[in-house]
Amino acid sequence: MDNAVPFEPFRIKMVEPIRLSSLAEREGWLAEADYNLFRLRAEQVMIDLLTDSGTGAMSNAQWAGMMMGDESYAGARSFFRLQEVVQQITGMPYMVPVHQGRAAEHILFGLLINEGDHVPNNQHFDTTEANIEARGAHADNLVIAEARDAQNLHPFKGNIDLDRLREYIDTYGRECIPLACITVTNNSGGGQPVSLANIRAMAGILKEAGIPFFIDCARYAENAWFIKQREPGQQHRSVREIAREIFDLADGCWMSSKKDGLVNIGGFIALRDPALYQRITQLLVLYEGFPTYGGMAGYSMEALAQGLDEALDENYLAWRVGQVVRLGEQLKQRGVPILEPVGGHAVYIDGRRFLPDMPQAQFPAQVISCEMYRLGGVRSVEIGSVMFAKDNPVTGDTAYPALELVRLTIPRRLYTNSHLDYVADIAAAAFANRDRLCGLRITEAPAALRQFTARFAWLDN
Ligand code: F0G
Repeated sequence: MDNAVPFEPFRIKMVEPIRLSSLAEREGWLAEADYNLFRLRAEQVMIDLLTDSGTGAMSNAQWAGMMMGDESYAGARSFFRLQEVVQQITGMPYMVPVHQGRAAEHILFGLLINEGDHVPNNQHFDTTEANIEARGAHADNLVIAEARDAQNLHPFKGNIDLDRLREYIDTYGRECIPLACITVTNNSGGGQPVSLANIRAMAGILKEAGIPFFIDCARYAENAWFIKQREPGQQHRSVREIAREIFDLADGCWMSSKKDGLVNIGGFIALRDPALYQRITQLLVLYEGFPTYGGMAGYSMEALAQGLDEALDENYLAWRVGQVVRLGEQLKQRGVPILEPVGGHAVYIDGRRFLPDMPQAQFPAQVISCEMYRLGGVRSVEIGSVMFAKDNPVTGDTAYPALELVRLTIPRRLYTNSHLDYVADIAAAAFANRDRLCGLRITEAPAALRQFTARFAWLDN
């Protein structure tokens, strides 16, 4: 039955109750949180779509594996199991565990990047950009132009613009570009995949120029799934084979395992160069831990080794990506404008089409996410002017981002389709209220990363 409703490919052995709340309670909590959903307590949220990072559910095999964790300081069996799995998937001989993705960025960039350097990527995630800028270097986004148009249906909107990459190398020269990266899938650009052809071409350009190529592979399994679905000639290959080809094209990679590692915490750097590996282990000892545990406990390395394998299961991936697409389709059917195509880990509501008359200075995406919380206790995350608008200290002008998005991020294996049916209902109810929504203003915010702590008030108050 190809057209039957796709069901969750797992049974639920343990449940975590959700505290149900009333509209009046949520209105009070929202005001107490100064209209910033990061300030809510998690118990005040019914469906939490803030992030897919570390929020997924582990399997029975992962929990069982945790009991087998070897907590030895040096030479733990759990490390060798994890190393073997990472070697099998990536084909890279060297691997160090770290506590999460940004720790990998800190260590890798600390060794490779100098002040004034330039680092290209399709689109850097915000911690990646911040870690590059913390070295006094420039983090540049060379994603294809189609990515900035929320309605363009390009199948690989995460692709890097190869002509711009060539020009970029001509402009700055190999000596100022210590590495180039590709983020799969492109989280900041809507969870959009990168094609195998694009990664191959990028690798060729970098090889010719002598620039090391690293992959930010937090969601590589979802990216490989999209390649199998969408890229001509890839349908007959397994996701594991496709993933392996992606890694074969690179010199190294780093992973926030809180996504496609199917664990709550963890990450790693994998690479081919023995000399760089030696230097990494020295910094690892300083900032994370001894090389056979880095930033992880033995039991978390066991859970990750198992999770990496489970995330490549094609029945799981079909359901996982299908669940996200299904939510996107439901929103479209109800007229709620979304970014298309739907990404691998999230549905992004297009705030500019949802509230076309509200200026970006009034934070329309933040307004929408507050309304969805108020109406239904659904927590989403603003990826728009709160996060990315930049004030120019000289002219006093503000530059606003091209896209004003609300990300409904779907944790892995955590919510059933009926939870997401409810989310679609709440998004539709918020959309029905759109003419009554008024803008927000910031009453207090720090200079950097203001999205986490800013306070807001309604403009009509
Ligand atoms: N790279 C990508 C593509 C990411 O999406 C993230 C985190 C990181 C690196 C950093 O990894 O959180 O383990 O330190 N993304 C999360 C999100 C936080 O909500 O999108 P981390």
